[in-house]
Amino acid sequence: MLQRTFSILKPDAVRKGYSAAILAEIEKGGFHLCAIKKLSISKKQAEGFYAVHSARPFFDSLTSFMSSGPILLMVLEKENAIADLRILMGATNPANAEQGTIRQKFAGSIEENAIHGSDAPETAAFEIGYWFAGYELV
Ligand code: RTP
Ligand code: MG
Repeated sequence: MLQRTFSILKPDAVRKGYSAAILAEIEKGGFHLCAIKKLSISKKQAEGFYAVHSARPFFDSLTSFMSSGPILLMVLEKENAIADLRILMGATNPANAEQGTIRQKFAGSIEENAIHGSDAPETAAFEIGYWFAGYELV
């Protein structure tokens, strides 16, 4: 069954000029790009997006980082999109990411780790609705 997931190319990846290379990996992985937009988000917007992490010690640093520069927000579609994107991304900490994954190739640290991907159907639905209107998805 076709499934949609939500992804962000984080400020570190965009700043370092990795956007096109990471998008190429995503397309090679068989994902259809339903929507994409480039934004600089506010700290408040980042806090709303990462609200599930509000009690974590890294919340302030994470939301400052996510609002530190332009990002690419995307809706991606394929069979099993949510789990398959997580595999393509690799582990949160790039030091533990499998060879050939996006984080192994492009991430610098556990926080500045290049890419976000939804972790479950409910979070994908929340995250897509947080950033995109229905008419923007093609
Ligand atoms: P994401 O939500 O961005 O796809 O990443 P994830 O599921 O692999 O990791 P998660 O546990 O949801 O954490 C969200 C993001 O917070 C930053 N982080 N920093 N300093 C730390 O220990 C730490 N741990 C997590 C990362 O940017 C991580 O992707
Ligand atoms: Mg997560």
